[in-house]
Amino acid sequence: MEREAAELFEEFKELTASEFFRRNKQMLGFSGKIRSLTMVFHELITNSLDAAEEAGIQPEITIDLKRVDKDHYILKHTDNGPGIPKKFITKVYCTMFAGSKFRNIQSRGQQGLGCSGCVLLSQMTTGKPAKAVSGYYEGEKLKGVEMTFKMDVKKNQGLILDSKEVEVKNTGVSIELHFKDVSYSLSEQGAFEYIRRTMIANPHAKIRFRDPTGHKFIFERATDVIPPLPKEVLPHPRGVTADDLIFMAKHTDKRRFRSLLTSSLSRMSTKRVNEIEEATGIDLNKRPKDMKWEEAEKIVDLFSQMDFMAPPTSGLIPIGKDQIEKGMREILNPEFISTTTRKPKTYRGGVAFVIEAGISYGGDSGRLVGEQKKAEIMRFANRVPLTFDQGSCAITEALKSIDWKRYGIRDLDNAPITVFVNIVSTNVPYLSTGKQSIAPEAEILHEVRQATMKIARSLQKYIRAKKAAKEEALRSKIFENLVPVIIREAALLAETDVPEYDSVLAKVTRKAKFENIELESEGEDE
Ligand SMILES: Nc1ncnc2c1ncn2[C@@H]1O[C@H](COP(=O)(O)OP(=O)(O)O)[C@@H](O)[C@H]1O
Ligand SMILES: [Mg+2]
Repeated sequence: MEREAAELFEEFKELTASEFFRRNKQMLGFSGKIRSLTMVFHELITNSLDAAEEAGIQPEITIDLKRVDKDHYILKHTDNGPGIPKKFITKVYCTMFAGSKFRNIQSRGQQGLGCSGCVLLSQMTTGKPAKAVSGYYEGEKLKGVEMTFKMDVKKNQGLILDSKEVEVKNTGVSIELHFKDVSYSLSEQGAFEYIRRTMIANPHAKIRFRDPTGHKFIFERATDVIPPLPKEVLPHPRGVTADDLIFMAKHTDKRRFRSLLTSSLSRMSTKRVNEIEEATGIDLNKRPKDMKWEEAEKIVDLFSQMDFMAPPTSGLIPIGKDQIEKGMREILNPEFISTTTRKPKTYRGGVAFVIEAGISYGGDSGRLVGEQKKAEIMRFANRVPLTFDQGSCAITEALKSIDWKRYGIRDLDNAPITVFVNIVSTNVPYLSTGKQSIAPEAEILHEVRQATMKIARSLQKYIRAKKAAKEEALRSKIFENLVPVIIREAALLAETDVPEYDSVLAKVTRKAKFENIELESEGEDE
C-alpha cells in the first residue's frame, strides 16, 4: 500500500549541532583511542593559549592525567588565562558552534566546537558530568566559581547540576573530565608528542604535565616574549563570493550598498566603488537589501578582474625565525639548525598567509624507530601541531615533492632530521572539521617548497663542511704521524741536530676550522 506524505513526514525532525556530533564524533577527530585523547589535549591546550595571549598573559598550563582503570582516565586541565565569567561557562563547554573567534582574525580556534566536543566525548563514554572552576575579574573583583554540569544534547546547552562560589588565587580555568575508550600513548600521534610539538611552536608557554604513571614533566619556556596580538582584518574583495555579499547586505546597518562595500572589505576605496558602478552599471546607492543575486554575482565577477593591492598583512603574526630556533633548540637540542620566515603571500587571490620553516640535524632531531633514526615532519597551522591526516596535507605534499638528493639527503624518510613547517593565516584552508590537514592550494605548496629548500641548502652546507672537516682531520692525523719520521730523516741527511718536534708541527699542521665555517646568510630568495 502506498503511504501518504503526511505519514512519512511524521518522522521529520531537526537535529541540534550536539545531536549531530553525538552521532558523528569522528568528524570532531574522535576516532580511535589514541587519537581521541590527543584531540582532547589539542582542544584544551589551544583554548588556553588563545585565551591567555588575548589577555596579554604568559601562558602557563598544568595537565594532570590519571588512569583509573584500563581505558578510563580523569583529565584535569588548568590554565592561567583570563577565566570565563560564570554565565558563559556552560555556553563555552556545552553549546556547539559557540565562541568568540568567529572573526577574520588569526587564532588557533575558529569553529566554536573544541571544548564542547570534549565534554560531549566525556559524557558519551562515561556518563559522568564535567567540573569546572573559573577565576575571573568582574570589575576590580576577583571572583571564583565551581560548577558541575552535563550537556543537554537535545537542546545543545548546559544542564547545571551544582554551582557555588569558591575562593581562587588567580584567574584561569580548570576543567576536569572523565574519559573511557581513550588511550595515552607515547607514539608520534599520542598526547605526549602533542605537548612536545606545542612547546616547539610556542616557546613562550610553560606546560607542566603529570602522566598516568605519575611522572612529572616540566616544559619550561624558552622565551619571555609574548607574541603580539593579531589584528582583525577585513576580508579582501578577491576572497568573497556572491553569497557573502548577499549575506553582508542582509545583516548590515549601512543604508547604502556603497558604504557597505567600503566598510566591510579591505582595499575598497570610494574610487574603486565608482569604478565598479561604472563597469557594472549597478546603482550602488541603493539599499543593501535591494541588492539582487545576479548583481552580486556581477560584482564578484568584476572583483576577479580588477587589480587590488594584496590584503593587509597586519593580521598575520608569524612565530618568527629566531623564536622557532629557540623552540627547536629547547626541545630537540640539535647539532645544527636553520629556520626561515617567508614574506606574506596570498592564496585564492585574497587570503594572506605566511609560511615559516625550520630544519634541525643531530641531537634529538628525527624520531627513533627501533635502532634507526627516521626523519620527523612536524606540521603546524597558527602554531598548532597537526598530528593526523598527514597524507592529504599540502605541507606533506610539498615536502615530498622536493628533490632531497640535491641537498645531500639521499632518502628523506631515513634522515636524522626534523623538519618544521608552520602556516599562519586568518583563514587556514583546512580540509575538514577535524582541522588536521591543509588544502593543497598551489601558492601554499610553492611557499612551503621555497622555505624548505632554503633551509635545506643551509643544512647541506653544514653537512658538507662537517664531512670536509672530518677528512681534513684524518689527513692531519696521518701527517702528524709522519712528521717525526721526516724530521729525523731530514736532520740525518742535513747532518744537523734533530729539531724540537712541536715547533715543526706548529708550522705544518693546519687545524680544522670547522666551527668557524660561515653558514648561508639570510635573505629572501625565490
Ligand atoms: N580556557 C579558556 N579560557 C577562556 N575562554 C575560553 C577557554 N576555553 C574556551 N573559551 C571560550 O570558549 C569559546 C569556545 O571554545 P571552543 O569550543 O574551543 O571553540 P573555538 O576555540 O573554536 O572558539 C572560545 O571561543 C572562548 O571564547
Ligand atoms: Mg578551541
